[in-house]
Amino acid sequence: MARTLPISDPDTLAVAIEALRRGEPIAVPTETVYGLAADATNPEAITRIYEAKGRPRFNPLIAHVSDIEMAKAHVVFSPLADKLAEAFWPGPLTLVLPLNPSAKIHPLATAGLATAALRMPQGFAREIIAAFGQPLAAPSANRSGRVSPTTAAHVADDLGDKISLILDGGSCRVGVESTILSVEGDHLRLLRPGGIAAKDIEDIAGMAVERPVQQSGNMVIAPGMLASHYAPDSALRLNASAVRPGEAVIRFGGAQIPGEEEASVVMDLSPTGDLREAAANLFDFIKRADAAGVVGIAVAPVPMHGLGEAINDRLSRAAAPRE
Ligand code: TXA
Ligand code: MG
Repeated sequence: MARTLPISDPDTLAVAIEALRRGEPIAVPTETVYGLAADATNPEAITRIYEAKGRPRFNPLIAHVSDIEMAKAHVVFSPLADKLAEAFWPGPLTLVLPLNPSAKIHPLATAGLATAALRMPQGFAREIIAAFGQPLAAPSANRSGRVSPTTAAHVADDLGDKISLILDGGSCRVGVESTILSVEGDHLRLLRPGGIAAKDIEDIAGMAVERPVQQSGNMVIAPGMLASHYAPDSALRLNASAVRPGEAVIRFGGAQIPGEEEASVVMDLSPTGDLREAAANLFDFIKRADAAGVVGIAVAPVPMHGLGEAINDRLSRAAAPRE
């Protein structure tokens, strides 16, 4: 079983760095979700991430950096990318940018693409990267296709028998993964809605964020973002307007749903209707409903503005039919 160390323990940073130098993936708290981090320049270390998660190798990883100089050693920044990094880093924005010829991020981390996804996280994760001196590749610290972890206990439940070290930084403040934005010339493309609202990006960039659509009408998403990502064990249905007996209810904004008295559990993402609070609670509530072994999970509508776009994206993936 994995050992869990609080980030407040004075030895934790040194223990983490030693593990990373041995090429071990370790679970690290970030402001979005817990990541499974390993040296992005070391092919064996990256392979161990894919193995622990059971993740398909064609699905590239985000490389996490501690400062802008580290970022620029690996990817090419346009003035627009600079402006966005200045406004939102450190924070929940991932930028997809062209790799530069001297990049040391290993092709296993980028799945051989000509671009890399980079993010500068907040807090202890950033301290680890600064101390390590190289970017850390880190997908969310869950088995592939499962709900992302927002506490150390979530990581232990899902990956505790696959990894040796979990750093415990408490609950993640944001609670949904970073927004992934591809910056290509004068085009900004939203590959995944996340912890920074598209509107906030548009306000800084002074231009629209494009949401590319496929013929099916779905967004063209980051490679490997499968429809049935975030799958709980119980069936989850959206836009519920009535509760079926024995269902778990996840609602929003304090609004009751008819039939709640027959629900097995009722949780409100944010009784006051605050989308930030709702995002922070989302994955924990899905996991709790699932752990209760309910007949199904009924989710009330959540507004689409601000962080609502990311919340609705994750909910619709959790509700998608399994392949
Ligand atoms: O908040 C987050 O972003 C968390 C924390 C740990 O930082 N990480 C995370 O990683 O959500 P992961 O692996 O679960 O999601 C990364 C996504 C994948 O959908 C992948 O396809 C996409 O980023 N991605 C990575 N490199 C890419 C690239 N060069 N072009 C387009 N998408 C890319
Ligand atoms: Mg993930």
